[in-house]
This record gives sequence, structure tokens and C-alpha cells, in this order.
Amino acid sequence: MRISLLSATAIAVALANAPAAYAWGAAGHEIVATIAQIHLPKPVLTLVCDILRPSLNLSEPAPVSTVDAYPPCSLAPIAAWADTIRMRPEYRYTAPLHYVNAVDDAPPDGCAFPGTHGWQGRPTGNVLAALGNVTNVLREFADGQRSVGDAEEALKFLVHWMGDMHQPLHMSGREKGGNGAKVAWNGRSTNLHSVWDGLLIAQSIRQTPRNYSRPLTGTEGAIVEPHLRGAIYDSYIRRIMHEGLAIGGRFDEESRSWLDCPTPESEKKSLGTPSFTYKERAQALLAMDFYTALGLTTRPGTEEGWDDAVLCPFAWAKPIHKLNCELPVWPHNLDPTGSHPSGAELDTDDFGAEADAAAGRPRPHPELFELDTPEYAGKIAKEWVVERLLAMAGVRLAGVLTDIFQDVEADGFVLV
Ligand SMILES: *[C@@H]1O[C@H](CO)[C@@H](O)[C@H](O)[C@H]1NC(C)=O
Ligand SMILES: *[C@@H]1O[C@H](CO)[C@@H](O)[C@H](O)[C@H]1NC(C)=O
Ligand SMILES: *[C@@H]1O[C@H](CO)[C@@H](O)[C@H](O)[C@H]1NC(C)=O
Repeated sequence: MRISLLSATAIAVALANAPAAYAWGAAGHEIVATIAQIHLPKPVLTLVCDILRPSLNLSEPAPVSTVDAYPPCSLAPIAAWADTIRMRPEYRYTAPLHYVNAVDDAPPDGCAFPGTHGWQGRPTGNVLAALGNVTNVLREFADGQRSVGDAEEALKFLVHWMGDMHQPLHMSGREKGGNGAKVAWNGRSTNLHSVWDGLLIAQSIRQTPRNYSRPLTGTEGAIVEPHLRGAIYDSYIRRIMHEGLAIGGRFDEESRSWLDCPTPESEKKSLGTPSFTYKERAQALLAMDFYTALGLTTRPGTEEGWDDAVLCPFAWAKPIHKLNCELPVWPHNLDPTGSHPSGAELDTDDFGAEADAAAGRPRPHPELFELDTPEYAGKIAKEWVVERLLAMAGVRLAGVLTDIFQDVEADGFVLV
């Protein structure tokens, strides 16, 4: 194994001590990167690994793509890089590129995306625009117009921002995406953003059934296991693959539309309906040719806003943003004004406070609203809300990377 397991330990420590410091949690980003990697065709992953070679500190030349040498690298170690450099002077411009804020956004009652007053700051200075920019850098690299250094940096941002885009609170303009919304988690003071960045994921990892600590077997095992590195979230990824993305899993049907971008009317006619069938997809997924199975080919981009035919951050983000009002991600009880109770007047009927009191469970921060309750965290876990977002981000990352690199011959690269 080429990649050190140190990062898994580092994540465990980070999750335990400082979840607030990491957007979507380092673990969340690594899980997304690993799910993407599982879906990448071999030649594409090989190419991606060649580009990332310097940042992964792989001094040896790329191995010939044999079964033994596969995968040539792991994407997880670079997945949280963008969070670690955002405060360095030379990267300070990237700090606002992890989220998008609509001025009018006021979940849970008013979800504006963006509403009449538009986005905060520059319309291009957000994660949706940034995803388009780094994708274009990679497309230019694939066309031979950019250095491998440019591509390496763009790749690290793409892997990270695709994750951020699938964290609902990174799409919300209210109280800095919930960073300002103080809540309690298991009695400890934290904020809503941190709950979604790390605490819900950490809890799901802890609650993964024991049978997933064993390697998956058969074809499924052959597809998934090579990409796991002994990290604390391995069993969680096995579960997302086995119960979620596998044939017949929770996401099997809907995941077929995760890569769809709205097609301009003019293009729709010529494209016709996708040519794959259910069975073809199943066979192709098992053959690790997931992308082809989805019936995608490169289509010319449109000039409409941030979205083109392959990468459509705005169209993808819209329903994710809506979760802030629907689920709700944003509990009504956090509202300090209006019809909603707040502070000491919290409605003890909601979100398990009453049940806690009845069961004699301690609530050391009675002034803060507890979210680690069956009604909040329990509902999110039961409905696989977080797992769905992680899977979606991974599949989309794989789709975009495959679209960019599928036609590029690895041998054709001059790694300058
Ligand atoms: C790469 O790894 C070698 C040895 O494993 C180490 O000496 C070197 O400092 C590393 N370089 C970077 C940039 O991390
Ligand atoms: C994207 O690229 C455009 C054109 O180069 C630039 O004006 C804009 O600031 C960039 N936006 C982001 C978010 O990087
Ligand atoms: C693990 O157990 C669950 C039931 O708790 C079952 O649904 C699932 O299929 C099992 N997974 C594997 C990989 O056997």
C-alpha cells in the first residue's frame, strides 16, 4: 500500500477535537473522494493519479496499470487540502469559494436561491462559479493548453468543492451557513454548521452495523475494496455502496439522473432519450464502466450562467439548498423572533427535549437547542440524508472527471 494511513488517524483526532475547523469535515471530503474513485474508469483514475503525483509525494514513476498496482493512488489524502490553505496569503482569495450566500435566504421559512437581492459579494466569487473555473482549467489541460501544475491545483479544488456544494448549509446565506447558529450536540455547545460538517457524519460512522467492518465479497468487493485504506470510515463507505449505490440499492434508480444537467430545448431533440437500459447499467457498473453506462457523452457547453451540459452546479445545488427548508436542516426552534420560541422559551415538545426530560437524560445546555435527538439526528440518519448527499457528490465528481479525461491518452501527456 502506497498511501500512509496517517490521515485516518488525523481525521479521528480532528473529528473529536475540532469539528468546526473543517468544512464538511475532513472525513466527509475523503468519503466523497473515495466514492468518486470507486466509480472512475481505470484509465481516468490512472491519469488523475499522475497529475496528483507531486502532492501525494509519490516519488516512483506510475506503475503499469496491472491488477496488482491498482489503484495507482488514492484521492482521499488531497480531499481536504483546500481547507488547510484557505488562510494562507496566496490562497486567501479562495476562502469565499467554499460556499454561496443568497442575500434573501432565510431558512427554514424562506428559502431564496438567490431571491430578488441576488448573491452576497461578487456573483463569480462563490463555490458554484469556482467549480466551473477549476473544471475549465482541467479541460484546458486535457487539450494540452495548461501545465500539470495548474491541473494539480484545479483537481484538488474540484474534489473539495464538489463536496462542499453537497453540504446544504454551504448553500445557505443565513448566519454564515449556520456557523452563527448555536446549538447543542449531545449536551455540548456547537453550531448548526458543524453538526452538518462533521458531527452527523461521525455519528453515522459510529453507527455503521458491524457486518461492514468485514470486506465486501464477490464482484462488489472487487469493485470497492481496492479503494479502501484502513480508514475509520471504510465500513461506512461499504454500507453506502452496498445498501445505497449497488444494483437494487436505495439510490440505484435515482442515481441514474444525478449526472443530468438541464438541456437547452434546442439540444434536447437531437439528443433523444438516453440509450442505456437498467440491465446495461448494471453490467457496466460491474465492469467498472459506470460512466458509459449512464449514457453520457461530452456535449457542447451552453453560455447560460454557471451551468453547462456536463457540469451544472446551479441546477445541482438548487434542490440541495432547498433541504434547508424542507427537512428541515434548519430547525424552527432556532428562530429568535416571530412565532417561534427561542432561548429559555424553547418548545419542549419538539425535538426530544420532553423525552429527554422524561428519561432523565441530562441537558447541560438548557439554553441551547439539542440536535442529537431521535427527532432531528435520528430522522436524518433514518432517511439516509447525509449518505445520499455524500454518494451524490462522489458520483458527480466521478462523472465530471470522466467527462474531462476519458478521451485523453495517458501516454500523450507531457508532465511539465
Ligand atoms: C516525500 O517523502 C520523502 C520520503 O518519504 C520525504 O523525505 C520528503 O520530505 C517528502 N516530500 C514532501 C514534499 O512531503
Ligand atoms: C472565474 O474565472 C473568471 C474569469 O477568469 C474570473 O473573473 C472569476 O473571478 C473566477 N471566479 C472564481 C470563483 O474563481
Ligand atoms: C449487513 O447487515 C444488514 C442488516 O443489519 C443487511 O441489510 C446488509 O445486507 C448486511 N450487509 C452485508 C454486506 O452483508
